[in-house]
Amino acid sequence: MSGASGHHRVRLTDLHPSTDAIADELRQGLQADPKWLPSKYFYDAIGSALFEQICAAPEYYLTRSECSILQTQAAAIGAAIGSGVLVVEYGSGSGVKTQLLLQALPAAVAYAPVEISRAALLASVAELSALLPTLEMLPVCGDFTQTFVVPQPQRPAQRTLIFFPGSTIGNFAQPEAIALLAQMRREMGANGAALVGIDLQKDPKVIEAAYNDAAGVTARFTLNLLARLNRELGSNFDLQRFRHRAVYNRQTERIETDLVSVIAQTVLVDGCAIAFAADEAIRVEISCKYSLHGFGQMAAQAGLALQQSWTDSAQNFALVLLKPLASLA
Ligand code: TRP
Repeated sequence: MSGASGHHRVRLTDLHPSTDAIADELRQGLQADPKWLPSKYFYDAIGSALFEQICAAPEYYLTRSECSILQTQAAAIGAAIGSGVLVVEYGSGSGVKTQLLLQALPAAVAYAPVEISRAALLASVAELSALLPTLEMLPVCGDFTQTFVVPQPQRPAQRTLIFFPGSTIGNFAQPEAIALLAQMRREMGANGAALVGIDLQKDPKVIEAAYNDAAGVTARFTLNLLARLNRELGSNFDLQRFRHRAVYNRQTERIETDLVSVIAQTVLVDGCAIAFAADEAIRVEISCKYSLHGFGQMAAQAGLALQQSWTDSAQNFALVLLKPLASLA
C-alpha cells in the first residue's frame, strides 16, 4: 500500500518470517530441554486482541502507569527529545501509547512502527494516519530483534527516537537485552535517543497478580499460543491438559511464565512427537523487573547512558531516556 490523499503517505516494509522459518523455530524450542517457545508468537490476531484485554485488566498496572507518565510528563518528555524526529517503535501493538507520545512531540517527521503482528500493525497505522494525516507512516512488518534497515522519511529527520514501551525489554534475559539495546544504539545514530518503558521492582504479590488476573485473560492469552500452533502447524495440543503458571523469581527478579502439562502426554507437532512428563513446563515468557540503577548499568554495557527518567506517582513504572555514551562527553 502506498500513496494516499493530501500529504499523508504510508510505505510498508514486509519482513514477516516465512511459515517454514516459524515452524522450525517452534519445533526446536519444543525439542529443547527445558522446553520453551518464543513469546513473539503470542501476537496473532487473537493474541493481540487478548493482550489489549490484559492491558485493561484491573491487576495489570503496567499499561495504566506508563500511560499516566506519558500524559502527566508530556511537556518534559517532549522537551528532552526535541522536534523533527523519526519515531521508530519496536512492537507497536495497538498504538495508544504512540498517540500519547506523538502528542508530546508536536513536530515529529515520521513514524516507523516495527511489529510482527500484521493485523495489529495495519490497524494501528490506519487509526494513527486518520488522526495525524500529515505524519509520514513507514510501517515495518517483522521481528524487531532482527537487524533491519530503518526506512527513511521523505522529509529528512533531525534525529531518530526509538520508542520501546511496555517493559518489553524485560521480556529478554540480560545478554539478549544488552544485544537489543546495542542494536538500538546503532539504529538511533550518534545524535539519536531511545525512550524505553521499564517495570520497577515492587512487592512480588502485586507483580504476580498482574500476570495472573482473576478473570483469567492472561491464562487465555498464554494458552492461545498452543491454539495458534494447532491452527497454523496442525499440532494437536489439548488446551484442557495445559495450564498457565506465572511465578515471581526473587533471585532473578523476574516473572517466569510457563505452560505446564497437567498430565504425562505426547503431542504431535508438525510431524514430530513431543513427550511431556506430568508437570513439565514450557517456558513462554520472562518479565524482568528493574531498579533505575540496575537498568542504567545494563544500558551502559550496550554503550548507552541513562540520561533522564520519569515515573508515575506510585513509582510502579519508569520511562527512561537513553543516549549514546560517547555523545554525552
Ligand atoms: N511486556 C509485557 C510484560 O512483560 C508482556 C506481557 C504481559 C505478557 N502479560 C503477559 C507476556 C503474560 C506473557 C504472559 O508485562
